[in-house]
Amino acid sequence: MEQKHDTVIVLDFGAQYSQLIARRVRELGVYSQIVPFNTSAEEIKKIAPKGIIFSGGPASVSQEGSPRPDKEIFSLGIPVLGICYGLQVMSLVLGGHVTCPEKKEYGIANINILRESKLLKGVSNLSQVWMSHGDSVDKIPEGFVTVADTPNCPYTVVEDSKRSFYGVQFHPEVAHSLDGQKMLSNFVLDICNAKADWNMGNFINEAIESIRKEVGDGQVLCGLSGGVDSSVAAVLIHRAIGDKLVCVFVNNGMLRKNEAQNVLDLFGKHFNMRLQYADAEDAFLSALKGKTDPEDKRKTIGKLFVDTFYNEARKCGDITHLAQGTLYPDIVESKSPFGGPTSTIKSHHNVGGLPEDLKWKLLEPLKELFKDEVRELGRELGLPEELVDRHPFPGPGLGVRCIGEVTKERLDTLRDVDAIFIDEIRKAGLYHEIWQALADLLPVKSVGVQGDERTYREVCTLRAVTSQDAMTADWYHLPYDVMQRCASRICNEVKGVNRVLYDITSKPPATIEWE
Ligand code: XMP
Repeated sequence: MEQKHDTVIVLDFGAQYSQLIARRVRELGVYSQIVPFNTSAEEIKKIAPKGIIFSGGPASVSQEGSPRPDKEIFSLGIPVLGICYGLQVMSLVLGGHVTCPEKKEYGIANINILRESKLLKGVSNLSQVWMSHGDSVDKIPEGFVTVADTPNCPYTVVEDSKRSFYGVQFHPEVAHSLDGQKMLSNFVLDICNAKADWNMGNFINEAIESIRKEVGDGQVLCGLSGGVDSSVAAVLIHRAIGDKLVCVFVNNGMLRKNEAQNVLDLFGKHFNMRLQYADAEDAFLSALKGKTDPEDKRKTIGKLFVDTFYNEARKCGDITHLAQGTLYPDIVESKSPFGGPTSTIKSHHNVGGLPEDLKWKLLEPLKELFKDEVRELGRELGLPEELVDRHPFPGPGLGVRCIGEVTKERLDTLRDVDAIFIDEIRKAGLYHEIWQALADLLPVKSVGVQGDERTYREVCTLRAVTSQDAMTADWYHLPYDVMQRCASRICNEVKGVNRVLYDITSKPPATIEWE
């Protein structure tokens, strides 16, 4: 999207927190965009940012091949803030030195402020910060001075105020750095002088303008799943181009209970969109027959989605674009921030499963946003709260939660289990505390006893996780009484199940979905 607002870019050195930095800047009302660490000074000049933030990163600057920025960036006259690895790499490039001390520093520290600095305006001495570093700067470049230190780190905050270069060894973007947002605000608003004129309202106006320009006289087909991302994308595109948008809702037979009807009611009736319903249950289930390998299942499902879209497209004249609700984390998880090869953990059909020769252009109006920003956008667009606040649900649906072979009977069983689990979580008032709750059906049977009868039925697992963006997740400590109610209702009400397990693995090492 063309930049009409003051922008602060985040140069991404591969940190888990790059996205969080961008979000924190947007929370200040300033538009922020993440760009790869090797973006050239020339390209940056074209974006014309008011400031540049170097993110942290997992590498060590002393490692061969570790990521370096274009040195010319420092000649652009644009303020720079280096965070953790960003501080180290800036120091090194500008003539300082970085060492790998024996003592690493992880966790909370208190900064001892040695001199006044624009960056620390309003920050009290001994303010708590969060450290996570192995390497440390042991010589700062010429022109730099020390602003604050800690007992373990002599160069905790440094600056060259003449050139507007600043560096912090800790992570101001995380909540444990209590004055972190104040420091980011000092950098973005005071040092960079960026105007705080970015909000969801003007994001909508600009996105509408850019969608209109992109689509021109064409027509867009949008796969609508009823999940937050595709729903928000569809409503936004509909605002922009009205009936030049055709939504296709594919019933692949792997939806949650009553899902199809709910989606058709909401979008067909309330939003008055062109909505085609493709009943493809038989096609999906017969293609999946006998398949048990997770990637094989995902690819089969992905391919059938595209086939179904092609079929549906024939009914509605010339389609030029395929719209998807791809978000920033979807893109990051499917490619390395260093532009190098990454192992495919799972083919996410949003990003990875499209054929290379797709005959339409892709329209992805949410690709710079994070989930909670998409939710905010959804609210601005008037989507009902129960939709905006829904837990994420994967494109391949219950297909990747029915471990082993996917059959109609097993899917029906899983739908019932899932409905009870979600119902109990809602009744306990926990739905919004949890990032995502899911049930899986295992291809394992166990012996049970109900009444006086022996049973031999399938085992299901329940999983609830907390997360910021699904890149990492922690298992949710579901209260025992809720677990107990779920187990008892599932065994009593769902015919095919006689044993319920609760999954207590975080991501990593596990992923959120089982397949
Ligand atoms: P994993 O299982 O990789 O999932 O930890 C991370 C997040 O992505 C969702 N997910 C998907 N979403 N299409 C989607 O649209 C997919 O194929 C897909 N696979 C996983 C998952 O539910 C979690 O929120």
